[in-house]
Amino acid sequence: MSETKQPLKPGEKILFTVAGVFIVFAIVAFIIMQVVMATSDKPMFETKTHANLSEEGQLGSRLFRERGCTTCHRALRNGTNMGRTADLDGIGSRRSLDWLYAFLTDPVKNYGAPTIDHAPGQRSAAYVAEMPEEELHAIATFLSELISDQGSSSAAIPPKGDSPFIDTMVNTWAPEEWKEKYKDIRDDPEALRRANEKANRELLQP
Ligand code: HEC
Repeated sequence: MSETKQPLKPGEKILFTVAGVFIVFAIVAFIIMQVVMATSDKPMFETKTHANLSEEGQLGSRLFRERGCTTCHRALRNGTNMGRTADLDGIGSRRSLDWLYAFLTDPVKNYGAPTIDHAPGQRSAAYVAEMPEEELHAIATFLSELISDQGSSSAAIPPKGDSPFIDTMVNTWAPEEWKEKYKDIRDDPEALRRANEKANRELLQP
């Protein structure tokens, strides 16, 4: 190896410049974000789910963390977001206490679809159905108290008022024939009312 310094090759110069620009950009963006967050009293994201936990619900919340549910699920800022069913925030707006308890105690019979993890002999969530009934009841109570507001991703009906975001998504992604075949539920108060009613009805059925 020679000790003399070699001048940078043009390719290396470009590479280092690009990397440098990225780093400077990241630092500037980070500083701007910090300043915006520090000076604004609005939260960065509006919270669309809430929970008023009863006493049993609080016990369930603790058990939810202690019994390893957070390995695969997420609720109230605890746990992981790694799959379709992983996020249980707002599940109380989709599932009733009876449904949740029935699912936890006998997933094969009550899920209504083949399960990947919760059935006996399946991967790592088979233990759940074997837990003491009072613990599962407390957890089911906790989950049933996780409520989503209208417009949250776990709610049955879209947000009130205009949403430029939804407009853009519909215009960009919905195929033309859908626009003839389906009506935008937001333009149809009657359909909105029916969807709301259906969501409430499903909630009452285990
Ligand atoms: C190894 C990963 C894993 C663990 C641990 C786990 N789950 Fe699940 N859970 C799943 C998967 C995957 C599903 C979807 C159904 C299935 O495939 O079994 C699910 C479904 C659910 C559902 C139904 C959601 C819905 O509306 O469809 C509930 C409720 C639930 N789990 C609660 C729990 C609770 C409570 C615990 C802890 C006691 C727990 N899970 C532990 C992976 C897991």
